[in-house]
Amino acid sequence: MGLPVTPPNLSSDLTGQVALVTGASSGLGHRFAEVLAACGARVAVAARRTDRLHDLAARIREAGGEAEPFALDVSAVDDIAPVVDAIEDRLGRVSILVNNAGVVDAQHATRLTREKTDQVFDTNLRGPFALSCEVARRLIAAGAPGRIVNIASMTAFDYWGGGAALYALTKGAVVRMTEVLAVEWSRFDINVNAIAPGVVASEMTDGMLARMGPDALPPFPRGRMGAPEDLDSTLVYLVSPASSFVTGTVIKADDGQNHR
Ligand SMILES: NC(=O)c1ccc[n+]([C@@H]2O[C@H](COP(=O)([O-])OP(=O)(O)OC[C@H]3O[C@@H](n4cnc5c(N)ncnc54)[C@H](OP(=O)(O)O)[C@@H]3O)[C@@H](O)[C@H]2O)c1
Repeated sequence: MGLPVTPPNLSSDLTGQVALVTGASSGLGHRFAEVLAACGARVAVAARRTDRLHDLAARIREAGGEAEPFALDVSAVDDIAPVVDAIEDRLGRVSILVNNAGVVDAQHATRLTREKTDQVFDTNLRGPFALSCEVARRLIAAGAPGRIVNIASMTAFDYWGGGAALYALTKGAVVRMTEVLAVEWSRFDINVNAIAPGVVASEMTDGMLARMGPDALPPFPRGRMGAPEDLDSTLVYLVSPASSFVTGTVIKADDGQNHR
């Protein structure tokens, strides 16, 4: 007879949580919003293309979930606090933040314009930093716990060339941002983690393959790209009680693509 064992807390019930997903108008963010809503969270879906956000929120509501669309350009940092105010008014205080919005540079470093450089830095790094601080400030003031999940990239660790140097640089900084904010906020019960996806089918990857051709990607060990739903369980783990002792880490979810 085995010893009595307290079963692990594997609950994925997010009832009562308010989740903000940036870049929810397509790709990974669209899927993350649906998954968090399916787990019971009230979800604020944010991006610039609001028509798509309205469609997504309607779809989530039809499936029995709760979601509201919010226009947000994360690179416009002065707009962040008013949007978080609006989310708080309509859904409640944000307790889960998924910093997913991101753009690629799609250009070799020496050919980048000043405008493109600013856009990549501001969208991938400055905006997520400002938004994380805005959400954390409110959680700390309320004495409430929270979870932040940053969407990094395997390019933070492995860059095979091809015109994404600045993108890789910002994603490397997202990994370090995850580590340092986790240290600052662990005493407030705010966990900060990241997911580093490998190549996953989305508008971003479609655009990259259209620009660079099908040979742009190296041969992958399993000969496949990921699908957004391949990240579901990693996201849910990082926002669930099961990962309460996990903060400041990055989970590489890349199907072995980057470990040749
Ligand atoms: N797909 C992959 O292979 C892969 C791999 C590693 C990491 N990632 C990361 O995963 C995240 C999602 O990428 P994806 O593949 O799903 O790409 P995607 O389909 O192009 O989606 C990008 C999302 O970001 C939003 N966005 C871009 N600029 C924004 C801004 N200034 N303010 C607010 N939202 C903005 C876009 O919405 P609007 O245009 O409507 O604003 C869109 O919803 C990104 O951070 C990306 O770097 C993707």
